[in-house]
Amino acid sequence: MKAYLIGVDLGTGGTKTVLFDAEGSIIAEAAEEYPLYQPRNGWAEQDADDWIRAGFGTIRAVMEKSGVEPSLIAGVGLSGQMHGLVMLDGDGKALARSIIWCDQRTAAECAEITERVGARRLVEITANPALTGFTASKILWVRKNMPEIYKACRHILLPKDYLRYRLTGAFATEVSDASGMQLLDVPGRRWSEEVLRALDIDAGLLGRVYESPEITGFITPEAASATGLRAGTPVVGGAGDNAAAAVGTGVVSDGKVFVTIGTSGVLYAHTDMISIDPKGRVHTFCCAVPGAWHVMGVTQAAGLSLKWFRDNFCQGRGYAELSGIAETAPLGANRLLYLPYLMGERTPHLDADCRGAFIGLSAMHGKADMLRAVMEGVIYSQRDSLEILKELGIHVAEVRSCGGGARSPFWRQMLSDVFGLSVKTVKCAEGPALGAAVLAAVGAGLYRTVPEACASMVSEDRAHTPDMGKNAEYERYYRLYTRLYPALKQSYRELAEL
Ligand code: XUL
Repeated sequence: MKAYLIGVDLGTGGTKTVLFDAEGSIIAEAAEEYPLYQPRNGWAEQDADDWIRAGFGTIRAVMEKSGVEPSLIAGVGLSGQMHGLVMLDGDGKALARSIIWCDQRTAAECAEITERVGARRLVEITANPALTGFTASKILWVRKNMPEIYKACRHILLPKDYLRYRLTGAFATEVSDASGMQLLDVPGRRWSEEVLRALDIDAGLLGRVYESPEITGFITPEAASATGLRAGTPVVGGAGDNAAAAVGTGVVSDGKVFVTIGTSGVLYAHTDMISIDPKGRVHTFCCAVPGAWHVMGVTQAAGLSLKWFRDNFCQGRGYAELSGIAETAPLGANRLLYLPYLMGERTPHLDADCRGAFIGLSAMHGKADMLRAVMEGVIYSQRDSLEILKELGIHVAEVRSCGGGARSPFWRQMLSDVFGLSVKTVKCAEGPALGAAVLAAVGAGLYRTVPEACASMVSEDRAHTPDMGKNAEYERYYRLYTRLYPALKQSYRELAEL
């Protein structure tokens, strides 16, 4: 009998749901967008009920479009934006807008976390220094600034795990996303009693932690009638969007790396043994393959940089058109550089105060130069992550690309040229949704292991080989790029204090 799987990717721009067959071919897909609220410079919030509407709506849409018999859906996998704080009351209702991953308001709370846990212990246990993007500092911020919300809070969940709760009634998460809360013992793959005690956070507020392919609950009768799924369909742990994209691009063994250009940009390396950057510039999290980890560098505003430029200066144009315009400018954008720090930056600077910049603007520059500079700046930022992986001794044999930005062949070639490495694509562009579906296939027993499922469900597509002449040219701009942040650092700080 044929079996099908559903993968949901609850992103920042919107939710994408895809119904796959057991070989990983797309049968139907649906997407819904929702707003991002930025009430202050550096703040970023979303309405958790928008995610639920989009999650339920897109599942219903793929069921209707595909006409697949609900009893043939073997499992559902969830992936989504990491780190967002969802606080629920005793009835499971969201108490406030969710403070999401790219919000930068919690520098003081990060200092408090470091002080309470101790800098060395924090890295030993959570594998990362305190970061504004992560969930723990957001919890402390709400406790301090919205005490009535904290008092009423009975459950704390991550974005995709709130959708899980609404689909299954289970308060649960899984190791890859939980790693980004800064409350998990990342080497031990369980909540850290020591960190929770130090931060005075009740462990009872948190969901149960599973491995990514494990079944966490079953579709309730109410969710079944709202989505068209069969009541009792299993929902597996799934993974944070990056760990899910790794599975969806087949990056599930040592030496493999992927680059994604979504709202954020990520360079992600699978590691069978845990590897931690002592300087905290790249994150170490559990990955969706049980017993393995990953290291990743994050560019806060990758696709977001292009979206920002489009929304403000090129309204009504599609991304493919913008990529075409950028391509008309020469390499180096007529000596224009762009720093993509619109939402502060994680890798390599760990700086909540820095912001974007165009350096070298001249009256001769037009849209094409600025677009190309934006695209180059994003890739230089990902190159910064690559340099750190090399420094950590992580072997990079092969790069795969995914995410909305990687749909542009021009951007992918630029990535290959700047890295000096060949970049492969996979046939299915929906990395996180496919990854979530692969995990569902393993949980439902269609495959024994995640790598085995990837071998059947993920297939390679085109490859870009680097032009080493361009690599040498880009190198000169990249070297200059790396000197700009140190030169501006103090000014950013002073600007943030004005
Ligand atoms: C990873 C991160 C982002 C979000 C956005 O640490 O914050 O990649 O997951 O989707």
